[in-house]
Amino acid sequence: MQKEKAMADVFETLMEMSRGYEVASVLIAASELDLFTEILRVQYATVANLSLSLRADERGLSILTDALVSLGLLEKVDGCFQVPEEYRETLDSRSSSTLIPMLRHRGSCMKSWSQLAWTVKSGSPFPSTESIHGALDDYRAFVLGMHSIGLRMAGPLVEQMKANGFPGFKRMLDLGGASGTYTAAFLKSYANSEAIIFDLPVAIAEAKLRFATSDLAPRIAFVAGDFYQDSFPDDVDFIWVSAIIHQQSVCQTATMFGQAFAAMRRGGIIAVRDIFAQADRTGPVAATLFGVNMLSRTEQGRVYTFNEVRDLLERAGFCNAKFLTERSDMGSVIVAVKP
Ligand SMILES: C[S@@+](CC[C@H](N)C(=O)[O-])C[C@H]1O[C@@H](n2cnc3c(N)ncnc32)[C@H](O)[C@@H]1O
Repeated sequence: MQKEKAMADVFETLMEMSRGYEVASVLIAASELDLFTEILRVQYATVANLSLSLRADERGLSILTDALVSLGLLEKVDGCFQVPEEYRETLDSRSSSTLIPMLRHRGSCMKSWSQLAWTVKSGSPFPSTESIHGALDDYRAFVLGMHSIGLRMAGPLVEQMKANGFPGFKRMLDLGGASGTYTAAFLKSYANSEAIIFDLPVAIAEAKLRFATSDLAPRIAFVAGDFYQDSFPDDVDFIWVSAIIHQQSVCQTATMFGQAFAAMRRGGIIAVRDIFAQADRTGPVAATLFGVNMLSRTEQGRVYTFNEVRDLLERAGFCNAKFLTERSDMGSVIVAVKP
């Protein structure tokens, strides 16, 4: 009897684990269609009206919206849909704290993850298919998705770094800084400082838009470039390498740290924010799964351990590598000093 119960539990566990894509697909499709925003925008959000304004199939919308109601992500009253109060700000793509770009980026990830067995066989990401918005807009969603999550994490993390002894800076380089979420948090926290955001042209365009009307704009230089090809802006005393090294091989990271060392003033600090694996690489779960994300999405990306990062920093010339914050998610920061 006990054996039968154990077998039933195993069955349920495996079935539950393999079903994760269902809820994710429903939420991501609604985000990609920008369905929540449309429902918030129109007066009578019936399937017929939504089908017209979104130019989407009625049967498709009807099944999708009912599934969203069953998941608690929509409400349905007399055939009209509403977004529950508590989800409105987060699921409205017009809001400054929207999560929609990140959910759309998750959709791009999901397509890659669904071909994981092929990736493991070949060693390379499965060729990605674009969303209904096209590849360029998918990249924009990735950049803005970094803002969606950074907005919630950056301020508290900078404060935590300060509380843990980060001494501040005069001129920082935000390497791969996307639309500048962390730059903003650092500049707000450290008066009389300035920053350079260095990223690919699409991201720099988004950064310029974000700061167009901001008081911080005069303290920021925007540099469009490729950190694998172009030299780094130099004469800085702080380099912020946030969610970057996981996309690259050990060799690329060694080169990046070497260039960072050359671009830095003596006494300057490099800070590497990322998710790190424990020494035997089998945990925490969030880190091992992030490793799978990098396997699915990049040619050479991986999660690093603290020891690997420390060794690479020391090889580049930095010293005193240590965790300034240590967590099981993307909120860990390793710092080191240029002597
Ligand atoms: C995962 S995002 C991290 C963004 C930001 N640092 C943060 O923590 O939110 C990686 C960033 O690196 C940028 N990036 C990737 N490859 C790059 C390259 N070759 N040169 C410059 N930037 C690059 C991407 O455009 C993106 O903004």
